[in-house]
Amino acid sequence: MQGERHQNKNEDDPSGDAYGSRSESPSDSVFKRAFKFYKKRSPPPDLSDVFDLRKSDAAKGIVCSPLRASEIPDQGLLTSLGFRSLDKWRLTTIAHREGLYILSDIFEPSCYLKWINRSLKIYPEPPNKTNIHIHVPDAHNIFENYANKLRWTTLGRHYNWTTKLYPQEGAALPEELTAVADLISRVLGLGGMSADATIVNYYPPKSTLSPHVDRSERLLSRPLISLSFGQSAVYLTGGTDLDDPVDAIFLHSGDVLVMHADQRLVYHAVPRIVKTQTFAPSSGVSKEIVDYANLNRVNITIRQVDPH
Ligand code: OGA
Ligand code: MN
Repeated sequence: MQGERHQNKNEDDPSGDAYGSRSESPSDSVFKRAFKFYKKRSPPPDLSDVFDLRKSDAAKGIVCSPLRASEIPDQGLLTSLGFRSLDKWRLTTIAHREGLYILSDIFEPSCYLKWINRSLKIYPEPPNKTNIHIHVPDAHNIFENYANKLRWTTLGRHYNWTTKLYPQEGAALPEELTAVADLISRVLGLGGMSADATIVNYYPPKSTLSPHVDRSERLLSRPLISLSFGQSAVYLTGGTDLDDPVDAIFLHSGDVLVMHADQRLVYHAVPRIVKTQTFAPSSGVSKEIVDYANLNRVNITIRQVDPH
């Protein structure tokens, strides 16, 4: 199923990904070689070529500057969603990747744990679906009972990992997800977005997400909005061919990556999780959630499957 989107894999899990378990082969694509390089456990890879998107780098085509918003959202809406005021938002673009946007410093850091808490305590509960429900259809209290086995949650139109299709119908998404996607799409000048599907990926320290393209959404003209919380990722972004050039970038807690236009259908992957953050105990968030955030990464991708 190479190239199609599939669930993330844990190195400790023997059913794990074939990538990387084979020895390096010269016939591998550029993308697969990059993936294996950054995935390696011993010796660990040199991360000095991974792009830091919080500063401009003319030689690499990286431009990081204060956001000039195309639309100004209501301040009350911004505050209620945990966003900082727009003058603090930073936007990074990469010259040869028109349509890829990375926003940083857009959330109040105090709300990172709230997003992680939602992703663990609320989103995995029925009627939403998780990888746990494949084996235990009526599972409840997923975080309390299965935290270490949780790999993904689907909400709204539930992505089917086997057929790689989204159904025509689905429950409405939690309103903070539709609101965040619509707001981000609008401030970037990409128009409104009626998000109808979300996939949450949970990344333990040694887990990876294999190279894939998200092509199952039927409305590919809308952006894909990806929120990262907790520990950091090395994220690989390539082209529409596995032999196109690949860039490795860091995604940190609170970063929002937007794939649009020509960058909507490029290969991408997460070969490595990197521990960079330490969260202190926080009111309203249990110790178990803080401990989880101090080890793992949570990624929320908000999508629009169909026109509405
Ligand atoms: C995905 C995806 C990337 C990430 O869920 O389709 O590519 O940063 N996630 O975890
Ligand atoms: Mn993807």
